[in-house]
Amino acid sequence: MPLLNLKNQALALISQTVSGQELAQLRIAFLGRKGQLNQVFKKLDKVNYGRQFNETKQAIESALTERQTQLTGTTAEWFDLTAPGQLPPLGHLHPISQAIAEIQRIFEHLGFTRVRYPEVDWDHYVFEALNMPADHPARDEWETIFIDAPAHPKLGQMVLTTHTSNGQVREMERVKKPPIRMLNLGKCYRRQQDPTHTIMFHQFEGLVVDKGISIPHLKGTLDYFGRQWFGPKIKSRIRPFHFQFTEPSFEVDMACVFCDQKGCRVCKNAGWLEMGGAGMVNQFVFESAGYVRNEWQGFAFGFGIDRLAMLKYHINDIRLLTGGDMRFLKQF
Ligand code: FA5
Repeated sequence: MPLLNLKNQALALISQTVSGQELAQLRIAFLGRKGQLNQVFKKLDKVNYGRQFNETKQAIESALTERQTQLTGTTAEWFDLTAPGQLPPLGHLHPISQAIAEIQRIFEHLGFTRVRYPEVDWDHYVFEALNMPADHPARDEWETIFIDAPAHPKLGQMVLTTHTSNGQVREMERVKKPPIRMLNLGKCYRRQQDPTHTIMFHQFEGLVVDKGISIPHLKGTLDYFGRQWFGPKIKSRIRPFHFQFTEPSFEVDMACVFCDQKGCRVCKNAGWLEMGGAGMVNQFVFESAGYVRNEWQGFAFGFGIDRLAMLKYHINDIRLLTGGDMRFLKQF
């Protein structure tokens, strides 16, 4: 019993040490020539307790060694607090996330505020309030995916947003009294799949509402964005188009970088790649949001982020962006 008590006491004290110095003191106190182990053993019958003496000594020895290793492995290690930090190998942001951050930065310089509106939204915000009633042929272009859920009595069915334009009326309803400079950025869905179309893609929507807003404001904003995104030499054009929610409407094209405008598979031999749509806000949309007709003017535009990334990084198939191939993603 005395040897067992001694062992337990030694092991408890060893486990509480915090420095090599304390350990050295315990070693002397228990195992030294005049240490406690020898003192206890002196009083015991050597024949009967010899084996237990050796076992106790060994147990204390190995506890001391083990604790020594623990202490040198942690606190005793030299640590240079002035050394520069090391980045953990976490990879990098996906090219689309990089593009989103850059787009937000560019528009913040022009005083736009980024907002987020639902990516699963009511038919009302995606179509009806934008002058596209249920049976209107203009809806065909949007190749919509509907949610199989009960319709809202006033807002209609739920759809996966086909464009970020659902943010227009939502923002007008939220702000109530312009000015508005909105950047709505989100995921969109359409039943489409080819080198320049995916089922899920990203858009950003710009909306400016104020007094006296005209087409030059729109063109100036688009030009500013083009130069910031692609560099000062980018060639872009707007051409007349039709959207139900803008009047007049345009499509915005950028010169195809894959063929230097000679015509290729990506631009379908046009020499231009369509980046987005734009136009002056149709007064119908203001009315949908509860504004008085002709009291405000505004412009809006909606661009495909995946398309912009394709052109900037020379990606010749949009599907690579969501393909999950690490060899592709590591290049950005
Ligand atoms: C629209 O979606 C309109 N809401 C844009 C708009 C906003 C017009 C505000 C006027 C005012 P469009 O269907 O053309 O327009 O799409 C805009 C852009 O989204 C396209 O130019 C393209 O860059 C991108 N886009 C459309 N469908 C896909 C798709 N399936 N995959 C990848 N990008 C797409």
